Amino acid sequence: MKNKLLFLGPPGAGKGTQANLLCEKYGLAHLSTGDLLRDEVSSGSVLGAKAAEVMNKGELVSDELVLSIVEGRLENINKGWLLDGFPRNVNQANSLKNLLEKINQPLEAVILIKIPDDFLIKRLLARGREDDNKQVITNRLKIYREKTSPLIDLYTNQGILEGIDGNADIDVVFSCIEKALG
Ligand code: AP5
Repeated sequence: MKNKLLFLGPPGAGKGTQANLLCEKYGLAHLSTGDLLRDEVSSGSVLGAKAAEVMNKGELVSDELVLSIVEGRLENINKGWLLDGFPRNVNQANSLKNLLEKINQPLEAVILIKIPDDFLIKRLLARGREDDNKQVITNRLKIYREKTSPLIDLYTNQGILEGIDGNADIDVVFSCIEKALG
């Protein structure tokens, strides 16, 4: 199975849910920039406090901060890995490309989890994380469309993107992902 992976998709698509299942079953390292940033926030650091301000508005934290979080971790993994929530714009995608060239581990597959907006808004409101309120969700979606969705064409053109219907039961979505990864 392909094991150098990236999950793309709007907020609430199920990236984290599916990433946890896949990483547990196949022993992959799960690198979620959202989770890592939330850990930084919980640590009470100055950096975390700055990140929280941005996250609670549904904006993207600086590329510099995210890259510093990903870089060291990715370099030290000697098994398969799954990136969840990174890259989130073209600049981050270019940085990832350079980093992967440096460590000689090319990206093998990008899974795009697709789901209509009204379903994901319902899911997120039901979850109720700090950034899951109507106004912030609307902004997260806007940012996704403006900044992250251009990556769909980027990876489609590289021939490594597979689209999956995320609007189904969790185990059904999981089977589709496994199938797509061969
Ligand atoms: P991040 O944590 O990455 O949030 P997100 O992309 O908005 O994604 P979510 O975690 O909301 O959704 P998900 O797709 O993972 O769905 P999940 O499985 O949780 O980022 C948060 C913030 O951090 C960003 O806004 C930004 O500020 C910052 N950030 C992170 N990365 C960054 C980066 N690279 N650059 C700059 N800033 C960055 O599922 C959602 C809910 O739906 C759950 O309750 C789940 O139980 C449920 N669910 C899942 N699948 C199903 C299903 N099939 N059926 C029914 N319910 C389901």
